Amino acid sequence: MMSIAEAFFARFYDRMTAGAEKAGLRAHRQALLTKASGKVLEIGGGTGANLPFYGSGVASLSITEPSEPMARRLERRLEQHEVPAEVVRAPAEELPFESGSFDAAVSTLVLCTVGDQARALSELRRVLRPGGRLLFIEHVRSQAPRLARWQERLNPLQRVIGCGCNCNRATLDSAQAAGFTITEVARDELHKVPPWVRPLVVGVAES
Ligand SMILES: C[S@@+](CC[C@H](N)C(=O)[O-])C[C@H]1O[C@@H](n2cnc3c(N)ncnc32)[C@H](O)[C@@H]1O
Repeated sequence: MMSIAEAFFARFYDRMTAGAEKAGLRAHRQALLTKASGKVLEIGGGTGANLPFYGSGVASLSITEPSEPMARRLERRLEQHEVPAEVVRAPAEELPFESGSFDAAVSTLVLCTVGDQARALSELRRVLRPGGRLLFIEHVRSQAPRLARWQERLNPLQRVIGCGCNCNRATLDSAQAAGFTITEVARDELHKVPPWVRPLVVGVAES
């Protein structure tokens, strides 16, 4: 069922993230997505912010999105792009795809929000072929203890303002626990957002 918060989040998402996109997020998307090729899965596609950056090496793109208002926006955005893509209404915790069916998977600012992160990572690993790559941009728990403590305290607030987004997740550790090998990682900050959502990891994990 569509909640008012979900509808609001979808309606204003692009406006809320415009500053961060301009201040570096878009550049990260562009650089990372050159690495996507073959059969690609993107989870939690949102309003389609990654669409402009998929290249001609992408044979097919399946984008999952469980939020109906986001999925509708995504479908409208897809009409403006030539990427061979389909939108699939499904949560990352229950991916409706055969095991080993993708060459690459993409998660940008989604593993912070999925209800069950371990399950979503295990599903991502299942649907990737052996050696397939998960390309990620995720904001995470800080490595600085003081900020990490604030992230714990502020997480209940963050979950409300970010429509279920958590600011305290050690996503790289979780990916490793799910069996991924982190092969590339750069640490940066999201800009133009509150300090507790700034710590950012960008990279590649191999299944
Ligand atoms: C912060 S937005 C990120 C959107 C987009 N990936 C981006 O980079 O701009 C989080 C997205 O995750 C989606 N989402 C929430 N729960 C999810 C789940 N369990 N599985 C997959 N996506 C989910 C939301 O609907 C939303 O579109």
